[in-house]
Amino acid sequence: MKEVVLGLLGLGNIGGGVWDLIRTFGDEVETRTGIRLRVKKALVLDKRIHGGHEVPEEVLTTERADILEDPEIQIVCEFLGGEQPAASMMQRALENGKSVVTANKMALSLHFDELRAMAARTGAGLYYEASVGGAIPIINAIQSPLIANHIEQIMGIVNGTTNYILTRMAAEGAEYETILKDAQRLGLAEPNPAADVEGMDAAYKLSILGSLAFHSRIRMEDIYREGITRVTAEDISFGREMGYVLKLLAIGKDNGDSIEARVHPAFLPADHPLARVDGSLNAVYLYGHAFKDMMLEGRGAGDAPTASAIVGDIIQAAQNAVHPMPWLREDALPVADNWQSKYFIRMKAKDAPGVLAEVTGLLAGEGISVSAMMQKGAAPGGKATLIVITHIAPEKAVRRVVQALNPEICQVENVIRVEG
Ligand SMILES: NC(=O)c1ccc[n+]([C@@H]2O[C@H](COP(=O)([O-])OP(=O)(O)OC[C@H]3O[C@@H](n4cnc5c(N)ncnc54)[C@H](OP(=O)(O)O)[C@@H]3O)[C@@H](O)[C@H]2O)c1
Repeated sequence: MKEVVLGLLGLGNIGGGVWDLIRTFGDEVETRTGIRLRVKKALVLDKRIHGGHEVPEEVLTTERADILEDPEIQIVCEFLGGEQPAASMMQRALENGKSVVTANKMALSLHFDELRAMAARTGAGLYYEASVGGAIPIINAIQSPLIANHIEQIMGIVNGTTNYILTRMAAEGAEYETILKDAQRLGLAEPNPAADVEGMDAAYKLSILGSLAFHSRIRMEDIYREGITRVTAEDISFGREMGYVLKLLAIGKDNGDSIEARVHPAFLPADHPLARVDGSLNAVYLYGHAFKDMMLEGRGAGDAPTASAIVGDIIQAAQNAVHPMPWLREDALPVADNWQSKYFIRMKAKDAPGVLAEVTGLLAGEGISVSAMMQKGAAPGGKATLIVITHIAPEKAVRRVVQALNPEICQVENVIRVEG
């Protein structure tokens, strides 16, 4: 039996979940791996408040040095959340030769280079399976079993809150604000939901996942980001009539000499594997030149599922004589802003002769062909809803058409990319 001494930074939802999993399942893990996990210290802000977990008084500390500077502690597990002080504490732990296990996509995404450099310098390990997709072993999959592939595409539902909101909007025909309020009441969305609904959380995850999948650093500021706040029940129901399901996707593509990295709502054909990933579940769909396509699906959040990935990381950190360090090219590929997609364009158009010709004429002028069209409502002279779905077209050309349409006769209400 080998004892491994741990320090936990934070005992909130995830820190508490890790504590509970080690307490309730640590013996079994020891039987299976020969490694006994001992939490020596857990950092809290106030020793009186630690979420009701049965943590002995002597384990709690309010001093970071009790963990970061203690030579007996071999692995530091960071669950504070946010950028700082989490990033600098991880940096200090690595500097002191301690391996770090974290679930913190924000700090990791923003400080990936420094943390990796420090880990390389001291030989300590940096493990972050839980930072993307919670319990889903996607980080490991990319770095080990799928390493003999050129991964060309990743497409993920990596934010449970937005997937829950979109799933309910679709099922109930309800508007975004109504479902958001209900999700907040149920504790499924934060009181300040911006990080989720504006796509920040998904973008942090794409930055990590894409950098590893394409071996080229993707920075947060390079990722195109659009949240779900402008999606309406009408978009979802018209999309459904045309055979599509709406999801917030994190999309990465390796185009050879550039990379695409974008987070935005997108329609998927109803028979796409990601289209049936509902509620707060997460899933990542990948395409690699040898394995072809694959989807990993599971719980992307919650204390126990996340703790499952974290304890897995802790065991790997304890077992590895040499810690793996993913290779990233030094000359990072540029992140392109000239991607192509199919587009769903929802317009309110005058129900009058010549309007359709104006719309299709502008599209044709940009070389964009139409794959489907649907008109709903309005008597002649009134306003009808007009939906156009294009074939693959350059994003910039579609934007030019939207700009050029005369709002007197045709107002564009939403443009949603169609993927898959
Ligand atoms: N929740 C999930 O399902 C999930 C899933 C995957 C990854 N993650 C990631 O896991 C991390 C933790 O999330 P969480 O849900 O556990 O958050 P949380 O419940 O808010 O826990 C964070 C804990 O850290 C404490 N804390 C903050 N700053 C501190 C400091 N300087 N010193 C000591 N304690 C401090 C907080 O105390 P106070 O509450 O007193 O401020 C809180 O107890 C985040 O990076 C998150 O993105 C979460």
